[in-house]
Amino acid sequence: MRRLNRRQFLGLAGVATAGLALTNCVAPLTVSTQTGKLLKSERPLPQPFQVPLPVPPVKKPSRSDDTTDYYEVTQRESNVEILPGVKTAIFGYDGIFPGPTFEARSGRKLVVRHVNQLPVPAVVHLHGGNTPAESDGYTTDLILPQSGWDNHNQMMMGDIRDGSRDYTYPMTQRASMLWYHDHRMDFTGPQVWRGLAGMHLIRDDEESKLPLPQGPHEIPLMIVDRSFNADGQLHYPSRDPSLRGEPGATGDYVNGVLGDVILVNGAPWPVAEVEAVPYRLRFLNASNARRYRLTLDPAPSGGKPFTYIGTDGGLLEKPVPTDTVDLAPAERADVIVDFSRFAPGTEITVRNAWGSGSTAQVMRFRVTRTAKDDSTIPAKLSAIERLDPKQATVHRTWRLSRGDAGEHHGWVINGKAFDPTRIMARSKLNEIEIWKVSSDQHHPLHIHLDPFQIVSRGDKGVPDHESGWKDTIDLLPFETVELAIRFTNYRGRYLFHCHNLEHEDMAMMATFETV
Ligand code: C2O
Ligand code: CU
Repeated sequence: MRRLNRRQFLGLAGVATAGLALTNCVAPLTVSTQTGKLLKSERPLPQPFQVPLPVPPVKKPSRSDDTTDYYEVTQRESNVEILPGVKTAIFGYDGIFPGPTFEARSGRKLVVRHVNQLPVPAVVHLHGGNTPAESDGYTTDLILPQSGWDNHNQMMMGDIRDGSRDYTYPMTQRASMLWYHDHRMDFTGPQVWRGLAGMHLIRDDEESKLPLPQGPHEIPLMIVDRSFNADGQLHYPSRDPSLRGEPGATGDYVNGVLGDVILVNGAPWPVAEVEAVPYRLRFLNASNARRYRLTLDPAPSGGKPFTYIGTDGGLLEKPVPTDTVDLAPAERADVIVDFSRFAPGTEITVRNAWGSGSTAQVMRFRVTRTAKDDSTIPAKLSAIERLDPKQATVHRTWRLSRGDAGEHHGWVINGKAFDPTRIMARSKLNEIEIWKVSSDQHHPLHIHLDPFQIVSRGDKGVPDHESGWKDTIDLLPFETVELAIRFTNYRGRYLFHCHNLEHEDMAMMATFETV
């Protein structure tokens, strides 16, 4: 069923022109590690390192045939224990946060039916997926609540469904860690904050052949920051907390909402018991706005604490040892930590060098005992096809900046606030394009449909761990980067946007069409 609705533009047109004039007029040039404003919890924070690390359940298909696995997810409100001793109302995929983890095999198709039992419209995007446009979760392709939706205030042009929608994921892409989350126009920030995010792993033969840690020695870790009100409910500075009418956040949260409680897989500063062997840690920063610089305390002797083996778009060519793992919103890091370098009984805290106070720590590992393990990190991990910038047929320039400080359209791309009826670029499939992107602030830029390769990053060159496939780049204040990208397989309209979810909701998003 397809219905076209005309959107009321909420004053977007005015902002678009005003933004152009203001692109050179940015706030004081302090280079901080965060963009956003701290929203303080209204209750005492729980003691860190008291609760065990949860690992979300792996989603089971409801049926399978020769080519495809079929799943059904129900999005609903539920009450869960996040802080010890209180129930917190969330929006959850299957009523849990994080949602269930998908384990996919490259080459096997997934069809996921999402049933919307939430009180608000939902959109599901598989972040990092090479997905046909109609299943990519374009921001106005709403699934209306099963219980009905009579708010025509914000009707917009989109492919709108009542109650449920089937998303098809061909999964003809390499092994990598994707994630899925809400993408409803103007309300992605609050809806993800309330819990609409889950992890999605793809495996393939190239990866399976490697002797990497696996099974219980591979752990997906979704990191977010949140704040809680006095009753232990999630706190978010929505202009309209019912998420029906007025979009956006109040006051100066236009820069982003930062919480003071760090959750890993939904638990505050949890503890994971590990054996003294190498582990493969699959980090995802699913925070709305917070950036992390992860370190280990104590650091092990005899080599760097972490070894990168992959990033957003899967395995690197070769391992990259590192002291810190930096994660902007939506970035993933696939790293090995060798706990055999610590004596049993050691407690190792994962710290966040870009946090302070309660946000300067993330979780803890406790090494239980020695164990036998044959995993190794091969010197060659994978083969990566290089996109040759000299073969590029199209060059585009994008400027990410503060718009007219107008309340909920505060951020713009090339001077334009997001408008779902405007196509900002038409890209031919299978051609290499160079995207030159400049930024006035921290803006984690994400492009849908295909990953990119970083060609240059300011005057610093491309760091080794960013030399593979990426789908999100952590643009620094006043930085200009060049990305090589080639769109493949599907024609239609797709999004690129800042993944600081407040910036995204406040219009730092644009549509490109593949032709
Ligand atoms: Cu992770 Cu357009 O999103
Ligand atoms: Cu941004």
